[in-house]
Amino acid sequence: MRPYLIAPSILAADFARLGEEVDKVLAAGADVVHFDVMDNHYVPNLTFGPMICSALRKHGVTAEIDVHLMVKPVDSLVPAFAKAGASIITFHPEASEHIDRTLQLIKEHGCKAGLVFNPATPLSYLDYVMDKLDIIMLMSVNPGFGGQSFIPQTLPKLAQVRKIIDESGYDIRLEVDGGVKVDNIAEIAAAGADMFVAGSAIFGQPDYQAVVNQMREELTK
Ligand code: DX5
Ligand code: ZN
Repeated sequence: MRPYLIAPSILAADFARLGEEVDKVLAAGADVVHFDVMDNHYVPNLTFGPMICSALRKHGVTAEIDVHLMVKPVDSLVPAFAKAGASIITFHPEASEHIDRTLQLIKEHGCKAGLVFNPATPLSYLDYVMDKLDIIMLMSVNPGFGGQSFIPQTLPKLAQVRKIIDESGYDIRLEVDGGVKVDNIAEIAAAGADMFVAGSAIFGQPDYQAVVNQMREELTK
């Protein structure tokens, strides 16, 4: 398996100081910036769009930006986010009319592509698109809000996806999003995840470095 990646979700950051918050969490050793896009349609909450992503790039952020689209429709936002500096674009398959086309669109725009599965979304959406995926992300909460508790049924589902990835022979990251904390990250990794989104667990603490270090320690156990 490839090195573990920690991806703080800026949904839990102080939006009034977003540039500083991102600098601080990256200086603390985080690997990737997780960017939650909510549209008050696919999910019952509203966050930020391509302009904020582009502002982070202009601010000097060079780390990968992992854009998690919780929007419907999906395709119209793909070119805008690619232009705004997204490195990875993931979307929920049930929000796209043509999943294969959306994956191709993301790749044509030079970004890594991934599918996101809600807790009750079946894995059958993977059946014909494994060759087009860089990332599979499992939601371990229902999307729309930070600070929710990890849904334990995600652990066997992660193990199932880990098996599917390993048997496919494709080089695909397995990301997990929602309720990830220092005290559960080790068992989530043991179930097969190799990329961890954490919002409130990191930004909810005064010392980001301490949390990131604790997470890494848990991951080496
Ligand atoms: C939820 C978002 C998550 C969220 C995670 O819809 O996709 O990325 O911010 O937040 P925590 O880590 O607080 O559960
Ligand atoms: Zn997310």
